[in-house]
Amino acid sequence: MAVKCFSLLLLGSLLLISVQSHGTSEFYTSVANLVDLLDSEQNILSRLDKYIRLSEEKVKFLKKQKEQIKNEIKDASKDPISFVSNPINAFLLMKRLVDDYKKIDDLMQMGLDVHLFDDSIKQPSQNDYKGVVEGLGHLQDLYKMKAEDLAQGEILGQVKARELASNECYTIGAILSQTKQYDHSIAWLKEALRRWSLESSKSISKLEILDFLSYSLAEDGQYEEALKYTNQLLKLDPKNESTLKKKEVVEQWLKHIEENGPNHRPSKPYRGLYEPLCRGEYQRSPADVANLRCRYESKRSPFLRIAPFRMEEASLDPYIVIYHNAISDKEISTILQISKPLLSRSMVGESFSKEVSKERTSQNGWLADHDHEVVKVLSLRTEDMTGLDRRSYESLQVNNYGIGGFYLPHFDWVRTNGTEEPYKDMGLGNRIATLMYYLSDVEQGGATVFPQIGVGVFPKKGSAIFWYNLLPDGRGDERTLHGACPVLLGSKWVANKWIHQYHQEFRRPCDLQPNKAYKLT
Ligand SMILES: *[C@@H]1O[C@H](CO)[C@@H](O)[C@H](O)[C@H]1NC(C)=O
Ligand SMILES: *[C@@H]1O[C@H](CO)[C@@H](O)[C@H](O)[C@H]1NC(C)=O
Repeated sequence: MAVKCFSLLLLGSLLLISVQSHGTSEFYTSVANLVDLLDSEQNILSRLDKYIRLSEEKVKFLKKQKEQIKNEIKDASKDPISFVSNPINAFLLMKRLVDDYKKIDDLMQMGLDVHLFDDSIKQPSQNDYKGVVEGLGHLQDLYKMKAEDLAQGEILGQVKARELASNECYTIGAILSQTKQYDHSIAWLKEALRRWSLESSKSISKLEILDFLSYSLAEDGQYEEALKYTNQLLKLDPKNESTLKKKEVVEQWLKHIEENGPNHRPSKPYRGLYEPLCRGEYQRSPADVANLRCRYESKRSPFLRIAPFRMEEASLDPYIVIYHNAISDKEISTILQISKPLLSRSMVGESFSKEVSKERTSQNGWLADHDHEVVKVLSLRTEDMTGLDRRSYESLQVNNYGIGGFYLPHFDWVRTNGTEEPYKDMGLGNRIATLMYYLSDVEQGGATVFPQIGVGVFPKKGSAIFWYNLLPDGRGDERTLHGACPVLLGSKWVANKWIHQYHQEFRRPCDLQPNKAYKLT
């Protein structure tokens, strides 16, 4: 990095000054020696000049760095959420706070007593930095995004961020290598190499890139290619012992494969239709969707006669419907306003990336009917929409998914062995149905998908999705397996209303025919 080179230069000259001022000869006894002293003085003065020049350069350099960073984040204040919701921007933010400011700070430490860091500054950790990059790898997997496009600042065909330099691609590749996402790590390191050869001022050494690239290739089992890059390394640094050792290992592997056949490479876990549905690629057959209807729902309660719901069927069996305009913008902003403090409290000391690669990455908070009039109104509306008794509702669960935030396929009902009671603490039986309000649009990603039945619903602010979790005989419906796809761009807010079995006896009676599909009637 430029900052690093500069600071090393400066450090070097300061060291020279201190070393050369230690003279012990008796200069005054000889004119020749005095002349030497004059030389020394000239030397000291020229070093002083150099120090002043470097100090000025340092200030000039800091000014330039500061302007550059300011320029990079100039769009942030306009819409901070959308700015940080861009994974490249999030990466750059982490990079600045974890790496760049440290280097600038090191430079400032030399002679200027100004600190960039103190306790009042929130600092992401190295783990956060790693987490963002690890998440980027997962997003690349799911949405099939290439390193070279992302490095260009492109996300699914649209320019969303600045181009990355070779050292930045290297950093991403190196972290992905540490998280064992070798296919992505290799692509990022090759991109680093490509960019390195085009850059006029090199921000990293080619050796470092080649070193990680050959390592990732070998770990990925691509020994031929690993050997190719190891040989390039040796061309630049022929006597390096660790590289020679690496070459030996790679050659042993090649020999092993020649004798025993290729290694079995573990494949990525198969999750059925989850991924194609998340990408919006999977479409049901025309026959599957032929009988789905849209209609105004006005019969279920007196209220609906005045203000009918716009209802769209997404699946008849199991029954899944979408309500349009189910919650107003004003109600949404109220819900977000009262739930944000609950979320941020649970986020203190953590960051959105901490949970990356686990089953679920989101933050949530619970709102009870008595917390706010709007929460209560939503319960009443849920009753109007579903016809299900609100005495067995859970509190409203508000969820926020950040970049890469997802929830792998799961059931909303619990599996029991027949004797134990589901959700014993509540004492209201299993979760008979789910109503989920979408509180935001999501620029890209974030669909709710049902991989068993090929249904995918993309969030639309103000709409809600409803489905029954249980079969008429009370057993869980396996077809209701569903997941939240990773958010690629933007921030996803949803509110869940889970409804339990008790008190629904007359509204949704049990049926001895387990396979009879339930509808909202
Ligand atoms: C050998 O190469 C590696 C990778 O490029 C480097 O980290 C290491 O410092 C080198 N060793 C020597 C003795 O130059
Ligand atoms: C069901 O699970 C409960 C709790 O795990 C256990 O006590 C009970 O013996 C189980 N019953 C049957 C029939 O397996």
